[in-house]
Amino acid sequence: MSKPLTVPVELGPASYDVLIGQGALEAASDRLKALCPRGRAIVVADEAALAPHRARLEAVLAGAGLSLHVIALSGGESIKSWQSLEALTGKLLDLNMERGEALIAFGGGTVGDLAGFAAAIMKRGCPFVQMPTTLLAQVDSSVGGKTGINTAHGKNLVGAFHQPALVIADSAFLATLPRRELAAGYAEIVKAGLIADAALFERLEAVTGDPLALDTLTPLIADAVAFKARIVAEDEREGSVRALLNLGHTFGHAFEADAAKGALIHGEAVACGIVLALKYSACKGLCDAADARRASAVLEKAGLPARIADLPGGPYEATSLTARMGSDKKNAGAGLTLILARGIGKAFIAKGEAPADVEAFLAGEI
Ligand SMILES: NC(=O)c1ccc[n+]([C@@H]2O[C@H](COP(=O)([O-])OP(=O)(O)OC[C@H]3O[C@@H](n4cnc5c(N)ncnc54)[C@H](O)[C@@H]3O)[C@@H](O)[C@H]2O)c1
Repeated sequence: MSKPLTVPVELGPASYDVLIGQGALEAASDRLKALCPRGRAIVVADEAALAPHRARLEAVLAGAGLSLHVIALSGGESIKSWQSLEALTGKLLDLNMERGEALIAFGGGTVGDLAGFAAAIMKRGCPFVQMPTTLLAQVDSSVGGKTGINTAHGKNLVGAFHQPALVIADSAFLATLPRRELAAGYAEIVKAGLIADAALFERLEAVTGDPLALDTLTPLIADAVAFKARIVAEDEREGSVRALLNLGHTFGHAFEADAAKGALIHGEAVACGIVLALKYSACKGLCDAADARRASAVLEKAGLPARIADLPGGPYEATSLTARMGSDKKNAGAGLTLILARGIGKAFIAKGEAPADVEAFLAGEI
């Protein structure tokens, strides 16, 4: 098995490694042993993700002298709830989990966000290990320490910053992920390049063949994680540059809120949102229209929707979308806060965008 790539996230005493590639799980064996001092590994797992990989996980843990204790969940947005948090923390207390014991999340971003929040509040904070099994979770949600749940008021409104002690992003986990979910994660890699890594974006443009093939993806995952690690090291608590990671997300969240239930997935909304952010930037004379066309081409190569007409879950309507954007939690004071770009790799935070301008722009795109 090939040696995994290691990307460090430098946060002083809270620093940790992200192990990436096929064989990352085996390579983490000794570290898992150290993080599970009571001889058991408590794994909060997405059932769909764990089933095909359980035998391998069990074998690696057994090799480290650890027994596997699974708390199974059915992954998806609905588990990011007060109810699931209460049930999960109850089970952890039943197990008499101790503060020195790690909680391990095995699944996509939904399981990671819920389990991470449980780890943040269990006995006032337990170590936490991420084993992300979706591409989105490997390149984005497992790194950076944002954890949380949704409430009736909206997505991700209750949570904590709680950095993992280790992230094991084994690309073999992705072999069972549906292609649509793989593509959704790819949008976040494209986003990283567009925000501040023009060289990464050019590597994506240069990909020939299937961009979602695991061998092609592995070095790109490492690039995207390294990018995120740099941003998080600079701004752990999203006081400044970390907000750039929301490129495409203000438009994207509006589509997600207006889409027919269950029809649209996050990465698809983000893909279209990224292109809209660049097109809007071009309309404002901030960048070239060609930059938006380059972004569309890279996203479409992975089968992602780059135009509103191609987005599942519509039809969409400009007034409603603009109203949704107005309730985004990034807004402060008058106008909308958007992440815009002065070119590829040159994203910036734009405050006070007039809703009427955004609405007229969206109307022209529909
Ligand atoms: N904390 C952060 O910084 C951060 C960043 C971005 C997104 N997020 C959050 O991440 C969540 C989305 O995460 P996601 O896209 O991973 O969704 P998800 O966790 O719902 O997983 C997507 C689907 O893939 C299935 N699945 C997962 N791994 C699998 C595997 N290996 N094989 C087969 N099926 C598998 C799941 O059962 C689910 O149906 C959202 O709630 C979002 O808010 C958090």
